[in-house]
Amino acid sequence: MRGIILSGGSGTRLSPLTKITSKQLLPVYNRPMIYYPLNTLIQAGIKEILIIIAPERAGDYLNLLGSGKDLGIKLSYEIQDRPEGIAQAFIIGQNFIDGEDVALILGDNIFEDNLSSEIQNFQSGAKIFAKKVKDPSRFGVVKFDHQGRAEKIIEKPSTYLSDYAVTGLYLYDSRVLEIAQKIKPSPRGELEITDINNWYLQQGELQVSPISGEWLDAGTFDSLFQAQELAKKKLINNMLI
Ligand code: TTP
Repeated sequence: MRGIILSGGSGTRLSPLTKITSKQLLPVYNRPMIYYPLNTLIQAGIKEILIIIAPERAGDYLNLLGSGKDLGIKLSYEIQDRPEGIAQAFIIGQNFIDGEDVALILGDNIFEDNLSSEIQNFQSGAKIFAKKVKDPSRFGVVKFDHQGRAEKIIEKPSTYLSDYAVTGLYLYDSRVLEIAQKIKPSPRGELEITDINNWYLQQGELQVSPISGEWLDAGTFDSLFQAQELAKKKLINNMLI
């Protein structure tokens, strides 16, 4: 399985911190933010990783991570010219994916759990991870039926659907590229990862796994602050990098 870290975007909610650097390079306790999702992939044994970045920050990523040799992995880089959606990662990364399964993780997502066995046991279709949150309307939200099976997923629902947010780690088989090429941009102008997840859901091939540990999308001042605490109290001993 290949890994992609999507680490572009504009980070407007963290302005002015993000005026001079990329959100995912900001410190989270004693490491740059991107080390945490990178660690999640490395822990799972993924050795070929593509980092997708915004053009104006590309040099900073190269300075920080380089070829990946020091970390025992092979890093590649691609530019996303404009933040046109999470699902665009597969189109940008198509040569890198080269017909393999792929794990996509967002560069600002921090997981307490070691998800290695979930990643290593992936076989086909799609697998995503859900977490109960207080503010579900910020995320893609998944509703489960009485038997605990995913019933529908809605991106940033305006009315209450459920408390379960779809987290920023997604596992797909090689069909994901074809699906990403087929979907159309949403009214906000983005290729939505929720549309990809709904495609697999309609085929009966989407697995949604609830996670037990803490999960943060460190994109707001409060969640960035919580991420620092999580890193200091719980993550520091589990970092391979
Ligand atoms: P968001 O937090 O939704 O967007 P953002 O990072 O631009 O922040 P803000 O809303 O404050 O302006 O993005 C989630 C993650 O996905 C984040 O790590 C950035 C990344 N991303 C991209 O790299 N490209 C994209 O086109 C999108 C939509 C997100």
